[in-house]
This record gives sequence, structure tokens and C-alpha cells, in this order.
Amino acid sequence: TAPAAQVTVHADRPGALIHPEIYGQFAEQLGHGIYGGIWVGEHSSIPNIRGYRKDVVEALKAIKVPVIRWPGGCFADQYDWRDGIGPRNQRPVRMNASWGGEDDNQFGTQEFMDFAELIGAKTYLSINVGTGSPREMSQWIEYITADGHSSLAQQRRANGRAQPWKLDYVGIGNEMWGCGGSMRASFYADVYRQYATFVHAPPNAPITRVASGANADDVAWTDTVMAAAGSQIDAISLHNYTIPTGNWEHKGSATQFGEAQWMSTLQGALHMDDLIARHSAVMDKYDPHKRVALAVDEWGNWMDQDPSAPDAALYQQNSLRDALSAAVTLDIFQAHADRVRMANIAQMVNVLQAMILTDQSRMVLTPTYYVFDLYQVFQGATYLPIDVQAPAYRYADASVPGIHATAGRDRAGVVHVALVNLDPHQATTVRIRLDGVQGTKVQGRMLTAPQITSINSFEHPHAVEPVAFEHAVLKDGVITAALPAKSVTVLDIR
Ligand code: AHR
Repeated sequence: TAPAAQVTVHADRPGALIHPEIYGQFAEQLGHGIYGGIWVGEHSSIPNIRGYRKDVVEALKAIKVPVIRWPGGCFADQYDWRDGIGPRNQRPVRMNASWGGEDDNQFGTQEFMDFAELIGAKTYLSINVGTGSPREMSQWIEYITADGHSSLAQQRRANGRAQPWKLDYVGIGNEMWGCGGSMRASFYADVYRQYATFVHAPPNAPITRVASGANADDVAWTDTVMAAAGSQIDAISLHNYTIPTGNWEHKGSATQFGEAQWMSTLQGALHMDDLIARHSAVMDKYDPHKRVALAVDEWGNWMDQDPSAPDAALYQQNSLRDALSAAVTLDIFQAHADRVRMANIAQMVNVLQAMILTDQSRMVLTPTYYVFDLYQVFQGATYLPIDVQAPAYRYADASVPGIHATAGRDRAGVVHVALVNLDPHQATTVRIRLDGVQGTKVQGRMLTAPQITSINSFEHPHAVEPVAFEHAVLKDGVITAALPAKSVTVLDIR
């Protein structure tokens, strides 16, 4: 066992609300993300609820998905919402120009809005700015939200939905510096202002307008857009992916890697702290009271596509490494809870760092899913500042903190502390001092696996799952916990 690490939880100086939406998801119309992953159609032999996979619906409900972003991604800026309404057998088939293949539009606005309602999630539409128009956007919003006698409201009723749906967020374009239209920031800022003018929310049902933000460390983009349009922006996005090799041509395998890529992936995840700090500092210049949220609406690990699934765009397996990198990223979002009020992991099912993988009628829950499961106790909690002193974990020339942690107090008063041991070899004993906590009982759950490459496969779907954590003792306001190597633990203190 390595030397003890020291953690102090400052429950006596509570911070910001942890918005549940930082546990949000992203579901793009690509590969098997929607078709086969969420939607199988009501006549499928795969058990379904009105066409949605029953197993997937139940799994997503169990982790309380707070918000879903759809239909893209790059897909969104070539999407015509009118293709996805009305009788499904009359919908057009379009090429999926962004990701290959064709889209028969069986999953459209009706199916997305109903799906979100079914799993109890808020709705986040990515609007077509690249090839669309403000008029198309405002008519889409009217179709979804109007409650009067307008033709669009009547059309929605004729298509089977009497009541308006609740639309919570609209993203004004996606990656406008790239696949969304190759715009320069100053041009996009004016385009944003134009579109934002025509987002008409119904009375008492506000819609949060999200500006298309920067790629990774491009703070100049954030600066230009905030300077020119900040007063009309409710949230601005940030996209960041971790590529284990740092090379987009050969990103690295999701399942066959050594300790060097374990380390580089965790370093990539930890980089999120620096990114948020820098973008937030720029936002502070224009918005010192933090009215405008930072929405990290695409994040995660992007590996080489799984060679066993050549037709499933962006399909990759998910290992214990993904679980730990998700955990440290969520810790970082919580540490910036005053600014980061939504985040959407890429993506929900069968795409990139997915919660869930499916193969015909089979489904597996990934190690990343189980981190979202363990961390759901933080949704809506109050952030508690935390200090961590721990020996570094080193590999070759690289080094990262050996222990990463976060804490929050939920609405029932229970304090939750998450602890990640990044070291793949060393168990670590942690002493956790709890300032301002009256609790007398501690219990927890922990996720680890025999190998850094351990996965849940369709043949062995239960290889990586959380277990009860029995190695924490609370005495005189101090918890002593023995954390296994390469593990994520969440403690509850009552
Ligand atoms: O998540 C996959 C793609 O990554 C999205 O479509 C795009 O926005 C980003 O580049």
C-alpha cells in the first residue's frame, strides 16, 4: 500500500449547485447510435416500447439522464426537421453526408421528443445553421412548442401529439468553425445574433440559447463570440475529445493498449480543468457574474473504430480506462459548477465513449455507464470544496495526481465523496477529514477490474460492475478508506 493520501472536505463552506445537466448525454444520428441502439421500430422482435428498445430505456432511466442533445453534431447542420415528422412510411430517405450511409428518418422530431419524455430527460436540439435558415428554426420551434391554432401546431396534432412538448435548449449551430460552416468567429457571432433573435419561447417555458463555442483550447473563439454577442447568449459550448495517441489518423485502440496510453488518456481527461479555467476566465471579462453558462456539450474519448464493426461509424469498445477518465472529468465539471451548467458526453449508445453498446437483441452496460450510475447522487447536490494531497502516479516521463476527488451534499443532507485512484498498480489509503459534517455512518460503492483493459463484452457483460465498498471506517470525523488500484469509489456519509 502506497503512503496515505490526505483529503479534506469543506462542507462548512458550500459552493455552487451541481446542475444535474452536467450528467447530460449526446445522441447523434449516425452509425448505430440511434438506429439499432435506441430505435428498433414498433414491429421489431427486439422488446420495445413504441419502437424504443426496452432494455436501453430502462438502463437510461436508471442513471437519470437529465438532458439529451440531438440530432448532431455535424449531422445537425445538414438536417431538415420536416423530413422527420408525419407518418413514418412516407418519410424521405436522405444520404447521411456527415457520416456515411442513408437515413430513412424513422427517428425524427416526434420520436426524439417522445423518447426524452419517456426517460424523463430535458430536450436539447442542435439547430441547422450551416445549411438552414432562421425561418426553418423558428418553425421547428413553433411546431414543437405552440399551443394555439397555428397551422404548425395543428400539423403536430394531426401527427399524433396534442400537447406541445417542452423544449429546453437550442444550440445555434454546431462546430461552426468546422463542419457547421467553416465560419470565422466574428462572422459566426453575427449569425448567432440573427438566429437568437428568432428563438421564440412560449410564455413560462423559457428556451436556453447555446452559442456554438470553441474547439478545445481556442479561447480566441470564445473571446470574439462573447464580445460581440455575449448579451444574447445564455450558454456557450466547448468541445474537447481525448485522443490517446494525440494523432487523429491513428487514435489508438479502445481495447489493446498499454500503460503509456492509460497515462495519456488520463492526462487528456485532466486537461479539461485547464480548458474550463481558461475559457471561463475569458467569459469573466464579459460576464463577471457568470450569467452565461459554459456547456461542454461534446466530450469524451475518441479511439479507432472497432475493426469488428466496420459499418457502425464511430463504434468503439469501452474499458476501465474510459471509466476512470469519465470520473475525473465529472470531478472537474463539479469543481467548476458555478460556470459549467451542462455537459453532454459523446455519445449515449454505440458511438464513441458510450454508456451502452448493443448487438441485435443483446445489450451491455459499459464501465462509463457505471461511473454515471455511481455519480448520479451528485445531480442537484451542492458542491463542497475539497483539498487533495496525494503521491503522484508516474509512468515514464509523465506524472499525474495519484488521487482525484470531488464532494457534494445532496438535498437530503447526505454528503457524497468520490475518490479516483489513477494508479494502476498501487492501492492507496486515504484519510478524509470532514469539516462541517455531522455524519456517523459511511457506506459506499466501488468500480474496478483486474486489468486496465477490462471491458464488458456481449459474451461477458458483467466483468466490470460496481460492488459494495467495505473498506471505509469513520471515526471522530475522519474517514480512513483503502482504495484499490485503478478504481472509482463513491462514499455516502450520513
Ligand atoms: O461526436 C462526433 C462528432 O464530433 C460530432 O458530430 C462533431 O460535432 C464533433 O466533431
